[in-house]
Amino acid sequence: MTSGGFFRKRSSGRGPAAAAAAAVLAACGAADGPEVSFSADVQPIITQHCVACHTPGGLGYRKSGRRLDSYDEIMRGSGARGIVEPGSAGSSTLILYVHPSADPNMRMPFGGSTELTKPQVELLSRWVDQGAKNN
Ligand code: HEC
Repeated sequence: MTSGGFFRKRSSGRGPAAAAAAAVLAACGAADGPEVSFSADVQPIITQHCVACHTPGGLGYRKSGRRLDSYDEIMRGSGARGIVEPGSAGSSTLILYVHPSADPNMRMPFGGSTELTKPQVELLSRWVDQGAKNN
């Protein structure tokens, strides 16, 4: 593991869980590494693990109103009420919800479906830290 630039960017705005997740992400150097592609790297993970629930008719969409089936939907409301804060994985709900340190009752994929692997979580984190680009 390398130490990355994550500390410089992390937010402390969302309480102990967010701070803990940010610390773990920082320890993993989530901001380092080659550029992550949304279409080649990120979207396949989300399509496989998230979209069934997070489209109209799915449980996640019914409960949270959140679709995850396109870049625009993932980024919708980005900032104050969004789930992705470009440049800051540690303050992005999308990352905090899939992170191993998330509350098991809230961790995504919801309800004990297969969890994301550590490399998958790191990939998503790096994508956010690199600006959450539509690349
Ligand atoms: C089995 C269905 C299911 C799957 C699969 C699932 N979710 Fe969810 N998701 C939910 C439910 C239900 C909620 C609402 C939870 C609550 O508020 O109690 C939710 C809420 C969320 C929220 C909060 C939405 C908001 O706007 O506040 C995010 C972010 C999220 N999910 C991301 C994901 C990601 C990323 C994946 C894939 C790794 C995923 N979910 C997979 C059911 C699911």
